[in-house]
Amino acid sequence: MQRQLLAVIVGVAVTTLVGVAQSGQISSEEDYDAAMKDVGATFRALQGDMDARDGEAVLAGTAKLAGLFERVQAFWTSHNVPAAAAIAAEAAGAANAITAAIESQAFQEIAPAQETLAGTCQACHGEYRERVDGNARIKPGVL
Ligand code: HEC
Repeated sequence: MQRQLLAVIVGVAVTTLVGVAQSGQISSEEDYDAAMKDVGATFRALQGDMDARDGEAVLAGTAKLAGLFERVQAFWTSHNVPAAAAIAAEAAGAANAITAAIESQAFQEIAPAQETLAGTCQACHGEYRERVDGNARIKPGVL
């Protein structure tokens, strides 16, 4: 009896996790905006954690950014905008490069990777983001 109950609880937990992973997919412009706000907040926090040399927090931040940019990449791929998908892939790669630099203690590689990462924000925003009355959106006609 107890075993069955445990099985049910585990089953529910697994289903919930799968549900969360799926809902992480960016399927609308609203989702995209939310993901970007998450990117912005995580990127800002990352700068602070870098300055504070808080390795654990930096690793959590770069892992989160890599995951977000993989979803951003999938969004652009699904809308058939390969150039934007490529910038997102570069961003994910740069976040992973920071992770790798910390894990292998190649600290001199952190700054260049961080610069690459910051460069992707500007490259993509310059090409695909439009700001109207303080709100950001994907430039009309891009999707
Ligand atoms: C592959 C393209 C791409 C990359 C890379 C990218 N962005 Fe964006 N971002 C966009 C687009 C397009 C928008 C506008 C759409 C929206 O907000 O709904 C946007 C909007 C935002 C917003 C929302 C509101 C605002 O102020 O514009 C923030 C914050 C943001 N990006 C931060 C970042 C940061 C920080 C990085 C780099 C670490 C980054 N983005 C990298 C495409 C990108």
